[in-house]
Amino acid sequence: VGQPLTDTLGRVHTSLRVSVTDRCNIRCFYCMPLENVNFRPRDELLTFEEIERFVRIGVTLGIRKIRLTGGEPLVRSELPQLVERLASIDGIEDLALTTNGILLTEQAADLQAAGLQRLNVSLDSLSEETFQKISRRSGLQRVLDGIFAARVAGFTDIRLNAIAIRGLTETEIVPLAGFARTHDFELRFIEFMPLDAENHWESEQVLTSQEIRQTLEANFCPLVPSSRHDPSQPAVDFHFSDGCGRIGFINPISQPFCSSCNRLRITAEGQVRNCLFSTKEWDVRTLLREGGSDDQVRELVRDCVLHKKPAHGVGGAEFVKPERAMYQIGG
Ligand code: GTP
Ligand code: 5AD
Ligand code: SF4
Repeated sequence: VGQPLTDTLGRVHTSLRVSVTDRCNIRCFYCMPLENVNFRPRDELLTFEEIERFVRIGVTLGIRKIRLTGGEPLVRSELPQLVERLASIDGIEDLALTTNGILLTEQAADLQAAGLQRLNVSLDSLSEETFQKISRRSGLQRVLDGIFAARVAGFTDIRLNAIAIRGLTETEIVPLAGFARTHDFELRFIEFMPLDAENHWESEQVLTSQEIRQTLEANFCPLVPSSRHDPSQPAVDFHFSDGCGRIGFINPISQPFCSSCNRLRITAEGQVRNCLFSTKEWDVRTLLREGGSDDQVRELVRDCVLHKKPAHGVGGAEFVKPERAMYQIGG
């Protein structure tokens, strides 16, 4: 207790991403397979009590930020109850959630009332046709309605996440940025990472921020770097010089931020991971279910952090794609 979660490179871990389910109501090709999805049985999922206990122990190790992820977190039933439990923990300074937005219209008000502070919503396209190509389901209008419902419910800091894939999303850049400018949302473009379930990722598909920036500046006006930059945040932030709209670039492939990474993850079935790309996991579910003490849980988390690699190595000769795809990790 008391000692921060520092790894062998001096990176201090203060942020925990908690996946609450591996299920999802759409099938984005960059994350999930279309068919034969290998969902874990429900009794393997951590209960809300187990998640709360793990987070409380995490706080004693210096965790200050929690982000709920999935799968799609809003398909986990009674999610606002979990939010309420986590919001009541002293020491949590940031409680956020990343969602595909499909169920936000129904849930935004309850999540706000339960104490959720921030929302990031995936929005890759403003065309239903492209939405379907990517997600292999319909539902763009529900997502858009969900985003505005969240604002009405009181969420002020809504960030939109758009995956950038060469050969597919170039046409989306200008409409998405126009949308973000008109409605004052922060829009982040994210480089495609090799975590798709069907192993289609190729390095040529990575559409870099330099190219996106050029397109944006040619269509709108210059992008100015925003002054405050927190190196442990994945996004590099800009605003348009006319004061309308904020753009972030998340470049895990072209400019990895691993050297300042402060993140730990726990999967929906209670496996602790020290990296999005880790090939090893630490099974805390068994410990939680077999009467492990808080000290034993802390030991497990410290051991996981001490085994963190310096960087993910995507593109290098030694890169090993993790067995899990994005939906099984939590993004
Ligand atoms: P903010 O706190 O709002 O900045 O959230 P975030 O960007 O950390 O979270 P979000 O869930 O919105 O993630 C946006 C994108 O960044 C997703 O594609 C994530 O997979 C990616 N991302 C988040 N954390 C990491 C990380 O530790 N490593 C890598 N390589 N990518 C990450
Ligand atoms: N590469 C990059 N980002 C991804 N996401 C899902 N799969 C990938 C991938 N292969 C993003 C989603 C969502 C966030 C949680 O992760 O778009 O915004
Ligand atoms: Fe951290 Fe791994 Fe992401 Fe690098 S790839 S920033 S080490 S989680």
